[in-house]
Amino acid sequence: MTITFKDEHGIAGMRVAGRLASEVLDYLTPHVQPGVTTNALDKLAFDHITQVQQAIPAPLNYNPSGRNPYPKSICTSINHQVCHGIPSDKALKKGDIVNIDITVIKDGWHGDTSRMFIVGEGSIAAKRLCQLTYEAMWHGIVKVKPGVRLGDIGHAIQTFAEGQGFSIVREFCGHGIGQVFHEDPQVLHYGKPGTLEELKPGMTFTIEPMVNAGKRDIKEMGDGWTIITRDHSLSAQWEHTVLVTPTGYEVLTLSSGSPAPPAFVTTTAC
Ligand code: MF3
Ligand code: CO
Ligand code: CO
Repeated sequence: MTITFKDEHGIAGMRVAGRLASEVLDYLTPHVQPGVTTNALDKLAFDHITQVQQAIPAPLNYNPSGRNPYPKSICTSINHQVCHGIPSDKALKKGDIVNIDITVIKDGWHGDTSRMFIVGEGSIAAKRLCQLTYEAMWHGIVKVKPGVRLGDIGHAIQTFAEGQGFSIVREFCGHGIGQVFHEDPQVLHYGKPGTLEELKPGMTFTIEPMVNAGKRDIKEMGDGWTIITRDHSLSAQWEHTVLVTPTGYEVLTLSSGSPAPPAFVTTTAC
């Protein structure tokens, strides 16, 4: 494993990239309405990132390990889509839930964050899944501190989500991030306390649990990217990029439109 540790210069770069990624979500929020196509959201995001932010949308043409290049600037995963949904000309409709995942590159540094949106009025089940997944992410974030191990984070997320009767997707995980989009370590959203890599100040990684209302099993669609739940149950995901500080964590992907943390969280930086 090659984990990169960020010095003050790198941390400053990561703070800017993180804030910009979150600001793209703020910018898109009023547009997430019944009737809008995910292609329209993709175009809005591309224009905002490239023209206003003078940054680069990291997903566009991203092709890890010889996959076919990702064709769009953002990921939009609707209802039973788990992650990496490709924007299309299909319109969002009332009651859909959609994850919008934004990664920008600014001055060589990556910021990666996603939120759930409920289109129009959502069902009670949809709202509960989105809220609980948000809390699951934060149960992981609040564990972050030097000396803690990645298994402690995964365990906190898994026990919370499964305790509520939901399931955690195993095939995709959070990741180290910096000058590279996906770098070591892998940040699993399940696991055993006291196992895996020990956290140290200067590490930056994402926490991005995917939570299914039904079974955890997934499958990949023929487009080579979109992941869906095998049982077609609803799936939700939230993502933040975090920094390990000498005393705890700092959430890097915050902006004025970020939803408030759940009540059990006392600070976004420590
Ligand atoms: N942003 C996603 C993540 O959280 C990765 C998207 S890769 C893409 O790691 F190519 F699908 F955009
Ligand atoms: Co990510
Ligand atoms: Co992401």
